[in-house]
Amino acid sequence: MNTFFKADEPLQRVDGKMKVTGAAKYAAEYVLPDCRYAVLVTSSIAKGRIKSLDTKAASNAPGVIAVISYLNAIRPPGYAADNEHPTEPATGGQPHRVFYDNKVYFNGQPIAMVVADTFERATYAAHLVKAQYIVEEHLTDLNKNLDKGVLPASAKKNPKSPLADYDRGVVDGYKTAPVKLEMEYEHPAEMHNPMELQAIVAHWETDDKLTLYDKVQGTQPTQQNFAKEWKLPPENVKVIAPFVGGAFGNALHNWPHETAAIIAAKMIKKPVKLMLTREQMFFMVGYRPGTFQRIGIGANRDGKLVGISHFSIGQTSSYEEFTESVLQQTRMMYTAPNVSTRYRILPMDVSTPIWMRGPGEATGAFALESALDEIAYELNIDPLELRIINHTDQDPERNMPWSTKYLKECFKLGAEAIGWNKRPLKAGTLSDGPWKIGYGMAVGTFGANRRSAKVRAKLFANGSLLLQSAVTDIGPGTGTAMVGIATDAIGIPADQITFQLGNSEFPVAGNQGGSSTVNSVGSAVLAVCDVLKQKLLEMANQNMPEFKSATLEQVTFSNGGLQLKGGSAKTTIGDLMKKSGSADLDLIEEAKPGPEAAKYSKYSYSVHFVEVRVHSITGRIQVTKAVTCADAGKIINMKTAGNQMIGGVTGGIGMALTEDAVMDHRFGRYMTKDLADYHVPVHADVPHIEVRFVDKPDYIVDPMGTKGIGEIAIIGVAPAIANAIFNATGKRIRQLPITPDKLI
Ligand code: MOS
Repeated sequence: MNTFFKADEPLQRVDGKMKVTGAAKYAAEYVLPDCRYAVLVTSSIAKGRIKSLDTKAASNAPGVIAVISYLNAIRPPGYAADNEHPTEPATGGQPHRVFYDNKVYFNGQPIAMVVADTFERATYAAHLVKAQYIVEEHLTDLNKNLDKGVLPASAKKNPKSPLADYDRGVVDGYKTAPVKLEMEYEHPAEMHNPMELQAIVAHWETDDKLTLYDKVQGTQPTQQNFAKEWKLPPENVKVIAPFVGGAFGNALHNWPHETAAIIAAKMIKKPVKLMLTREQMFFMVGYRPGTFQRIGIGANRDGKLVGISHFSIGQTSSYEEFTESVLQQTRMMYTAPNVSTRYRILPMDVSTPIWMRGPGEATGAFALESALDEIAYELNIDPLELRIINHTDQDPERNMPWSTKYLKECFKLGAEAIGWNKRPLKAGTLSDGPWKIGYGMAVGTFGANRRSAKVRAKLFANGSLLLQSAVTDIGPGTGTAMVGIATDAIGIPADQITFQLGNSEFPVAGNQGGSSTVNSVGSAVLAVCDVLKQKLLEMANQNMPEFKSATLEQVTFSNGGLQLKGGSAKTTIGDLMKKSGSADLDLIEEAKPGPEAAKYSKYSYSVHFVEVRVHSITGRIQVTKAVTCADAGKIINMKTAGNQMIGGVTGGIGMALTEDAVMDHRFGRYMTKDLADYHVPVHADVPHIEVRFVDKPDYIVDPMGTKGIGEIAIIGVAPAIANAIFNATGKRIRQLPITPDKLI
C-alpha cells in the first residue's frame, strides 16, 4: 500500500523561504490598529505577601495608560476560588492566577503590568513600580528535602496510573543478584530557550469575542483553556499561531503572561501586545524540573539483569502539580524479572515546571542508561552487548506484544557508523596527546501516542489542493510532512498543495507535543485524500467512458491526474472536474486509532552513539562524533526527520554538558537569566551528527506506518555522553551537567 515515500528526494521545506526571508509572522509581529504595549513587573522574593505596591510614578510616566496589579485587575470569571483545587488543567492543580491577590508563590512572579502607547515607554515605566513585601520562609532546594516528596494526586486516585508505585517480581529484587550497584543521579532544572520569546497579542473584538495571536503548541487547547477562564463558548475564542519559533514543550501550557495580556486588553478596551524578556523566560513559562534519582541494579555474571529499582523525585510548584513519565523506560525496556519504580514530586516555592523535549523519559533515561553502563563495566561485558542480552521481544510491563520494535537494527546501524569495535574495553586507556578519548552509547524510547485528528480538504477546479488543520508547527516542518503525505497519496504535485495550520478555527488537532503530530494529523490527511480519490473516481466513472467501470485499484493518481493502469486513458484532475461540472470539493475527514492498536505496546526507539575527547589537564569536553539511530517507523521526509534528530542530539549535548539553571537558595531565585550564563550548545559544541533511520513501517500505529521522532531524538543522549566520558576518563559523573570542574 505504500507509494508514499521518496526517501531519496525529500521535499524541501514548504515554508523555508518564508522563514529565511522574514515573511513568516510570529506572535509578536502582528500589528493591530490601535495596539498598546504591556511590560510585566515581577517579584523579587520567592514567598510572602506584597505589603505595598507603589504605582504612582509609573502611572504618571509619559504614555502610560494603565498600571495593572492585584489592586485593580479585573478577575477572569473562570478563575477558581481560593478553596477550589481544579483537577483539569494541563498538569494538575491550580494554574497560577495572575494579579489575583497579594500572595507571592515564586520569585519572578508577575506582580504588576504597565500598559503604554509604546513598548519603550512601558518598559521604562515598569521600572518605576516599587513593591514592599512581607517575606515568608521559602522552600526551593530539592536536594535538601528529598524526604518530603509526595505521590501525585492522580496516582493516589488511580493505583493503575503510570505514576503510581510499580512492582514486578520481588520488591528490590536486585539486592539478591551476585553483582549489584546502587547509585544516585541528579540534574538541575533546565530552561526552555527557544529562539522565539513567549509573546501574545490579545484582542477583544467585542465584549465576548477574544482573538489571540499567541505563541502556543496547540491552538485549540489554548482556545479551550481561555474559554474556560473567561467563561465563553469556545467558538468565541480564536487562537492564531501559524509560525512558532521553537518551543520544546514550554508552550504546551498557558501561562500567567497570557492571562495578564487578556486582562489588560479587556480593561483598556484595546489590543495589547506582550512579549517576555529573555530573563522572564527563566521564571514563568515552565522548565524541565530538577530531579534526583536513585537506582539499584543487579545482574548475574552472564549479564542477565535480576532487578532494577528506580526512585525519582522532581520539583513542582506549590499551587500546581506537574508530573512526567520518568520511570517508563525502566519498566519496559529490559527483561529484568524484578522491577520497582517509585515516583514522587516535591511542591516547592517555584513556578510550575512543564514538559521539556523528551520530557520525563529523557530524565529517567539519564539514570537508567547510565546505570546499565555502570553494571556493564562491573560485569566486564560490552555495554551494547549487555543491552542485547536483556532485549525483550514483548512488553514485560504490560505483557503485550510490541507493534514493531527494530531496536537491534538501530544497534547495528549505530555500532557500524561510530566504529564501536574500536572502543577501548578498559576505561581511560585511549588517548591522543593530552586528549583522552572514549565512546558511549545509550537507548531512548517514547510511546507512539497517536491521537484523533481532523483535516479539511478543498480541491479546486484547477486541480490544486488546500488542506487545513488547527495543529501548530513548532519547527519540525509539519506543513512539509503533510504536503508530502498528500502528494504521495493523491498524486497532486507538491507545489499545487497548500497545508494551512495554526488556527483554532481549522479542524480538530491537539497540541504539537509528545511526538504525535505526523501519526495523528498525517493520518487525517491520508483519510481525506482517500475520500477525494473516491470522489474523483466516481466522477470519472460517470463522465469518462474509458473509466466507466474502473475501480480504485485500476487507477493511478499521479502528476495531478488519473490514469488507467496498463492503459492510455488519462485525465488531469482539473479537466475531470470541469468535464463533470463539479464545483470545488470541500470536505473534512477524521482519523483515529482503531481497536487493533490497543492490543499492542507501541514505542519508537533511538540509540545514540558518541565519541568524546576530554582534555586531561583542563577537563574540557568535546563531543567529537555522534551517530543517532532511530526506529521511528516509516520516515515521511528524510530531511525534516533528520533535522529533528540533529536538533534532539544538540539538545542532549546541552543537557549533558552545559545547561544548568542555577538557583541562589538564599533568595529562591534563578541566577541564570540569559544565553550568556545559561549556555545552550552552539556550533563549537556540536560535531557533525550522523542520522540513521531503520525506516520500517508500523501499520499498527497508523496507516502510513510512522511512529514519532521528536522525543526519542533527545532521550538517551545525555547518558550516551556521560558513558563516553567514563570510557575516556574512568570518571563516572552522575550529576548533570558534566562540566570540566567535575573531571579534574
Ligand atoms: Mo514536547 S516536550 O512534547 O513539546
